[in-house]
Amino acid sequence: MRNQVHMPRRKLIAANWKMNKTISEAVSFVERLKSSPAPQPGCDLLIFPPFIAIPAVARLLGDTGVAVGAQDIFWENEGAFTGEISGPMIRDAGAEYALIGHSERRHVFGENDETVARKLMATFASGLRPILCVGETLEEREAGEAESTVEKQLRSALSALSRENVKRLVIAYEPVWAIGTGRTATPDDAEQMHAFIRRFVRGVFGDPIAGELIIQYGGSVKPDNAASLLEMEEIDGALVGGASLDADSFLAIAGAIPRQ
Ligand code: PGA
Repeated sequence: MRNQVHMPRRKLIAANWKMNKTISEAVSFVERLKSSPAPQPGCDLLIFPPFIAIPAVARLLGDTGVAVGAQDIFWENEGAFTGEISGPMIRDAGAEYALIGHSERRHVFGENDETVARKLMATFASGLRPILCVGETLEEREAGEAESTVEKQLRSALSALSRENVKRLVIAYEPVWAIGTGRTATPDDAEQMHAFIRRFVRGVFGDPIAGELIIQYGGSVKPDNAASLLEMEEIDGALVGGASLDADSFLAIAGAIPRQ
């Protein structure tokens, strides 16, 4: 299929703090971020603090343009679901995004394609923008099943989505074996998978939706490997765990985006 000509996609650099930082540590990070020079035009920043730090982070970031998201969401809006947090609560706390189907949710907490699909719908229903995480395990990659695994995850997650939904969707390709391990996919391997993901979305939703879709890479992104990943045509940003905990390191990753 012929590619249409699109406006260059913006790069989205997101910090996934996981279960790190107290509220006061989160506040110090944001203060540091605000006192540092803004990243180059064409780059958007996004922070996923733990739930309880969202209000403080969102309030401090105010109109800086740096967005805030929740690391997870539950699919019901309210009710007897002890320990869960809903989309309307996340919106009310000041977040705009939600991370869906992160590999730690899938592998440590037993989430599966069905729960991921329900959470994705809840995210749209509450007006949040989801970042849908997909990625294969090392076993699946070594068995030559990386693409079929990601395809299965995408097929299930996207099957109930409308075109309007997909326009608001971000996808993060995070090979499970690269998360928190210090091993990154090579830029070429990542590029190949990103192109595969975009082809899949193009096959279902066509262009311009596929051409405009932001696909982030995640898995041991650091200031010293960010440039080689972010210069790839199909890589539209990074979802950063460990290296996002320090504001200077997070900004160095954003600063590694090649200038257009
Ligand atoms: P990492 O985590 O950068 O520490 O590998 C990435 C992620 O889990 O989103």
